[in-house]
Amino acid sequence: MCGIFAYLNYNVDRKRKYIIEVLFNGLRRLEYRGYDSAGISIDSSSSDSPLVFRQEGNIDSLVKSVDQEVAKTELKLDESFFVHAGIAHTRWATHGEPAPRNGHPQSSGVGNDFLVVHNGVVTNFEVLKETLVRQGFTFESETDTEVIPKLAKYVFDKSNEDGGDQTVTFSQIVIEVMRHLEGAYALVFKSRHYPNELIACKRGSPLLLGVKELNGNLSNGSLFHQTEFPTKNGQPKEFFFSSDAHALVEHTKKVLVIEDGEVVHLKEGAVSILKFDHDKAKNGVGLTRPASVQRALSILEMEVEQINKGRYKHYMEKEIHEQPESLKTTMRGRLIRGGFHKAKSVLLGGLKDHLKTIRRSRRIVFIGCGTSYNAALAARPILEELSGVPVTLEIASDLLDRQGPIYREDTAVFVSQSGETADTLHALQYALENGALCVGITNTVGSAIARNTHCGIHINAGCEIGVASTKAYTSQIVVMAMMALAIGDDTISSLSRREAIIDGLFDLPNKVKEVLPKLDQEMKDLAKQLMAEQSLLVFGRGYNYATALEGALKVKEVALMHSEGILAGEMKHGPLALVDENLSILVIATHDACFSKQQSVIQQLHARKGRLIVMCSKGEAPLVCPGVSVRVIEVPQVEDCLQPVINIIPLQLLSYHLTVLRGYNVDQPRNLAKSVTTQ
Ligand code: F6R
Repeated sequence: MCGIFAYLNYNVDRKRKYIIEVLFNGLRRLEYRGYDSAGISIDSSSSDSPLVFRQEGNIDSLVKSVDQEVAKTELKLDESFFVHAGIAHTRWATHGEPAPRNGHPQSSGVGNDFLVVHNGVVTNFEVLKETLVRQGFTFESETDTEVIPKLAKYVFDKSNEDGGDQTVTFSQIVIEVMRHLEGAYALVFKSRHYPNELIACKRGSPLLLGVKELNGNLSNGSLFHQTEFPTKNGQPKEFFFSSDAHALVEHTKKVLVIEDGEVVHLKEGAVSILKFDHDKAKNGVGLTRPASVQRALSILEMEVEQINKGRYKHYMEKEIHEQPESLKTTMRGRLIRGGFHKAKSVLLGGLKDHLKTIRRSRRIVFIGCGTSYNAALAARPILEELSGVPVTLEIASDLLDRQGPIYREDTAVFVSQSGETADTLHALQYALENGALCVGITNTVGSAIARNTHCGIHINAGCEIGVASTKAYTSQIVVMAMMALAIGDDTISSLSRREAIIDGLFDLPNKVKEVLPKLDQEMKDLAKQLMAEQSLLVFGRGYNYATALEGALKVKEVALMHSEGILAGEMKHGPLALVDENLSILVIATHDACFSKQQSVIQQLHARKGRLIVMCSKGEAPLVCPGVSVRVIEVPQVEDCLQPVINIIPLQLLSYHLTVLRGYNVDQPRNLAKSVTTQ
C-alpha cells in the first residue's frame, strides 16, 4: 500500500520544473499502489524550509494544485539546482481519511525540519504519539506516520541540547528513530538541517535505490548481474528511491534492492549503507554503532515499453491482451519436447533439487490471497492427481487467524503476484517457524516472498500494473500445472496424461490468441446487456469452480457490480432461492468430467426462470440446454486442467467492458491498491 518515490540530482544542473516532473512521473508509475491522496516536498527559493504540497485524490489533482500554488507564489520553475533532494508519495489510506492533512510527506511541524514519506504501518504509533504530545508536540493528522518526523525532530533537538554543537548525523537520527518503531515500513527522510541529503530505510515494506551515472556506461546484464557500486564523488549522478522497479526503469536499470534494517544515506554524491538490527536494538545491543555494509547493484531486466499502455486505453485491457505472450514467457525453456525414447517433461530449475522432499511431504499446502488463492484452487485438482500427495489450500489471513497447523513434513507453497502481500508474508514467516519446506510462486524478482522462501518458481508474466490481476492469474495456473507435472514425473502410470498436458501447454498461447479478438467483441456486447444489472451469479465446479470465483471477483472489484462465484454442487443448498426472472446467471459448462452435472444445473436454473448465459466448449451449444435458447459463450476446448486458463478470459473481458460502460476507473478501482502490504 502506498508508493514512495524520491529523486536526488548531484553535480548536474536541473531546473525546478524538471525536478517536479521527475517526482510526478515517479508517482504516476506508482499510482496503482494507492491513489487517494498524494504529495511532494521540494526546496524553496526563499528560505531553508522545504516546501510541502499535499492533495486529496490522484496524482493529476496534485499536479493541478501545485500548478495553482506556483502561479500564486514566487516559486521559480526555471531555478537551477546542482544538487537537490525531493520526496514524493501516493497514498492508500490506512489511518485517517483521504485528506491533505493525512497525505505524505508528513512533517515534524512548523519549518518542516524533518519530512517523511512512508509505506507500511507503525503499530506502536499511539504510544509514541502520547510520549511526543507530553514533550509538547502537536499533531495535525490522524496518521500513524506523523510520529516519525516528530520523533526525528525530538531526537535532533535532544542531541543538540546535550551535545551543544550540531554533531549528530542524519543517519544517527534515523537509526534512533528506527529503534523506536514497531511494525512495517519503508521510509525516506528529507530534512532542513541536512539539505541535499536523503535517507531511506526499511523493515518489511519494499524499497529500491536506482543509480544513474550521467557519464557512466550501462551494461546490459542478466537478472542478477552484479555491477560495481558507483560511489565516486564528483561525477554527475542521479539517485532515485522507489517502492518498485516500474518507476525506475525509465531512468536507470542499475538498482539496489534495499534489505530490511538497511539505512541508505545519499550525501555529496556518495551512497553509504548501514545495517541496523532491530531485534538486537530492542534488547539494547543495537545502541552501539550499526555496521557499515557493502552492496552490489543489480541490473533490472525490464524494458520501458512494458510499463507503458501502448495502443491500449487501460493497463487491464493491455494485460488481458498480452496473455498469449505472457503465457509463452512463463513456459519458455521449461517444457521439454522429448523425442525418441525420451518422454516429454518439464524442467523447473528453482524446484528441481527439492522435488524429492516435496514428493515425500505429508501434504502440500498452497497459501495466498484473492486472485492468487483462486489460481491455486484452479490448479489443485491436477496437483492432487499427479503428485499423489494430499493438497490443501489456505487463505493467508485465515491461516493466521486460526494459527492453523503447519508441520515440518509439509510443503507450503506461497502464491503471490507481487511477492509482497502482508498476509502471505506473515503466513510465510509462520510456516518457516514451523519448519515446513517453503516454496514461492511470484511474479516479482527480488520480492520478499521470493527472497525468504527456500526455493521457488517465477511466473515471468511481466509487469502487471492494472490493480485487477489478469495475466498473472493465467501464468500462475500454468506454473502450478507445470509444478504438478514435475512432481509427478517419476510416475510411469501417468505418463500419457502428462504428455497430453504438455502438448496442451505448448498449444495454449495460440488458443488464447485465437479467441481473444472474437471474445472481446462478444463480451463488449454482453456487457451492454448486463451493464444495468444489480448482480451477476457465476456457477462453476471442478476445475472451473475457481473460474467462477475469479470471474466474480473481477466483476465486483472493477465493475463495482455485486457478483458471487458459486460452487454449482451447492446450488440446491441455498443459492437456488435467489433465482428468478430478474437474476442474471453465468454458468460455466465447458466439456470435462462435470459436464453432465452442469447440464442438470442449467436445466434447474432455467426452470426457475433465471436469465442464463452459458459458457460452453466450441460446437456444444446445442447440448447445454437442449430445446431452449440461451445466450452462449463458446470457447475452445483444451486439456481439462488447462481449461480454467481459457475460461477466465471471457470473464476478464466482460468485467473490463462492464467497467468502461458503467464509467468506473478500470486500473484504479475504488478503495483498492495493487500491493496489500498491510494486514
Ligand atoms: C484481484 C487481486 C487481488 C490480489 C491479492 C493478492 O484482482 O489482484 O485479489 O490477487 O491482493 O495479491 P498478490 O498476488 O500480489 O499476493
